[in-house]
Amino acid sequence: VTTRLLRVDESPSAITDAAQVLRSGGLVAFPTETVYGLGADAFNERAVGSLFEAKGRPMDNPLIVHIADFFQAVELAADVPPLARELAAYFWPGPLTLVLSHNGKIPPVVTAGLPTVAVRMPDHKVALDLIRECGGGIVGPSANTSGKPSPTRAEHVLDDLNGKIDIILDAGPTKKGIESTIVDVTVDPPVILRLGSLPQSVIEDHIGKILLTEDDSFLRRAPGTRYRHYSPRAEVVLLNEADAATLETLIESELAAGKRVGCLLHSLEHAEGKNLRVIRLNGIEAISRMLYDAFRRLDEWQSNIIIVESTDDPELGPTVMDRLRRAAGYSGVPSPTAK
Ligand code: TXA
Ligand code: MG
Repeated sequence: VTTRLLRVDESPSAITDAAQVLRSGGLVAFPTETVYGLGADAFNERAVGSLFEAKGRPMDNPLIVHIADFFQAVELAADVPPLARELAAYFWPGPLTLVLSHNGKIPPVVTAGLPTVAVRMPDHKVALDLIRECGGGIVGPSANTSGKPSPTRAEHVLDDLNGKIDIILDAGPTKKGIESTIVDVTVDPPVILRLGSLPQSVIEDHIGKILLTEDDSFLRRAPGTRYRHYSPRAEVVLLNEADAATLETLIESELAAGKRVGCLLHSLEHAEGKNLRVIRLNGIEAISRMLYDAFRRLDEWQSNIIIVESTDDPELGPTVMDRLRRAAGYSGVPSPTAK
């Protein structure tokens, strides 16, 4: 297929066209406040099947249904507990996905046969307009090739999925840059299955203590977090402490080994040089918003190794560190003084 990239602000019929494509079983990438999603009509099993194929996504990894109205969640759920209503009232539209028990209306290809369905109302006008025009829920996994970092710009989607999907709705870079927080509300207290752009601390400010699923409690996790994920091609090394001497030593030894070295820094500084690129991200919002874009830029530059500074921000810090640990395969470089 030919993939059409439509700038939403320049083509007034873009959303109507895209909704038409969805209704006839096509695939449309669309912006949300977190990352770009790849949309298909949630009730069209063939369309959803072709979405798995376009992404190269394992069929046992369920999809999030994107809705524009709380009533659409109620329609799919076997039960909407009071706590789910409360969370939806506080945080929708927004970067929160709720896992609810479903009533069988949603096709099993969407839920990978699970008794639950994940639902979210994105906080983006284009996404909401598209869902409304389409008329029903649309599934929306991140619009990347499976295994690559999620796309935060339309160009990222084009890089991964050109020729495999019908339309990309381009509305510029996304505001948050990291995926939604997934909360299982079928249990009490609720459990976070995936940290995301809505900080755990902010959720707890509203409803009190909630649990964070253990990384090794395999079955309690969002199935998708099992796969190598959120990571660039290059090896990622996490600097546990903002320690200029450790950074310097590491850069020198990698350069000496003939590597192309990328750095993602926020408090430390380092000059660029031959085979050495430095991306500075100022503040936790920028780190979160630009992380995947930086991974992709450094991959394009063909870095062999990416050295990333840790963050201990009280709100988004745990989310960013979750993605960094996954990207690093959980390895870190302890500071020599920390032993
Ligand atoms: O911010 C986001 O959530 C983005 C935007 C596009 O909305 N979407 C996104 O979708 O990140 P995806 O498919 O890349 O990640 C969805 C995650 C996967 O890890 C999947 O396993 C999990 O949600 N998931 C989906 N349905 C589930 C369910 N019923 N129970 C547990 N986890 C579920
Ligand atoms: Mg994804």
